[in-house]
Amino acid sequence: MITSRGAMILGTGHALPERILTNSDLEKIVDTSDQWIVERTGIRQRHVVTPGTPLSELVIRAAERALADAGVNAADIDLIVLGSVTGDMKFPATACLVQEAIGAKHAAAFDLSAACSGFLYSYQVASALLATGNFKHALVLGGDVLTSMVDWSDRDTCVLFGDGAGAAVLAPSDGKRGLIYGCMHSNGAHAKLLYNPGGGSLHPPTHESIDAKQHAIRMEGREVFRHAVTSMAEALQEVLQKSSLTLNEIDLLIPHQANLRIIEALGKRFAISSDKVFINVDRLGNTSAGSIPIALDEALKSGRIVPGSTVAMVTFGAGFTWAAAAIRF
Ligand SMILES: CC(C)(COP(=O)(O)OP(=O)(O)OC[C@H]1O[C@@H](n2cnc3c(N)ncnc32)[C@H](O)[C@@H]1OP(=O)(O)O)[C@@H](O)C(=O)NCCC(=O)NCCS
Repeated sequence: MITSRGAMILGTGHALPERILTNSDLEKIVDTSDQWIVERTGIRQRHVVTPGTPLSELVIRAAERALADAGVNAADIDLIVLGSVTGDMKFPATACLVQEAIGAKHAAAFDLSAACSGFLYSYQVASALLATGNFKHALVLGGDVLTSMVDWSDRDTCVLFGDGAGAAVLAPSDGKRGLIYGCMHSNGAHAKLLYNPGGGSLHPPTHESIDAKQHAIRMEGREVFRHAVTSMAEALQEVLQKSSLTLNEIDLLIPHQANLRIIEALGKRFAISSDKVFINVDRLGNTSAGSIPIALDEALKSGRIVPGSTVAMVTFGAGFTWAAAAIRF
């Protein structure tokens, strides 16, 4: 009998901007085609904010939905961890803005920077803090407004990303439900294969930094693709091994939604049937730290996760960072 020791999920929620950008909309902005984007990425559309909409707007909505779903009052949340790289401001942490907006008066709040791995990193950090006994309920958030740092003239990147946020309310495991095993990894040697150089202390904003497009996402797509498949496969294997689970015992795999071909390559390595793999990248594109919690909420609300389900999640992002987890519901 597998035991869950890490935090369990009491409720989830997500939020997406209303505005939808289709591939044919992108055809009008850059030299691309619906056919290229669908064949190379599986993406057909993405939700994008109206420029100037802050991340907090999405995250607060996702948080409120998760609290309602969990039946937990904001006043009973004592920890908020937000995985994101597109906070409203350099400081303070956007988690603090969420804390104020939802009325979580007793919560410690901080942001965690792990790019697309932000939610699974935040989940594991919150789980460890809950295990100390010092916290009773955590709100774990993942979200990004990556379109705020997209160069809309760069067809290599602008077709890939969408905006969105997801949330989960966590409590210490009851012994049956919760995190069975989770892992987190990083390798800074590859920092410059996927990064946003401008705006930090290395390149503070100047007219020159804007002209040099240092505030936009830079990516070596093919290299990122290769590392994503290998690292996610290793992390998933580690989680299966350490939790003594076979693939047959996994009811649903939620992989990071970056590219359908990455997901399919991962599925092929594990010979996992496609009906066990959750996919929404076609509708949402890559929402970075929002990817896993949005998918998780959609899977729960659509009945693909039910009480007793064992779910594996795996992700990869800039850093490089990667992480995986097996959770019993
Ligand atoms: C970006 C990505 C879709 C590109 O697909 P790919 O099959 O590797 O394509 P390549 O980069 O080899 O480019 C192939 C050709 O398509 C062109 N191309 C790139 N973007 C294009 C676009 N949007 N529309 C049309 N053509 C495009 C390239 O210029 C290249 O042309 P060339 O052969 O004349 O030089 C893919 O590498 C990928 O998904 N990488 C991972 C990205 C990712 O997930 N990042 C986030 C991780 S969290």
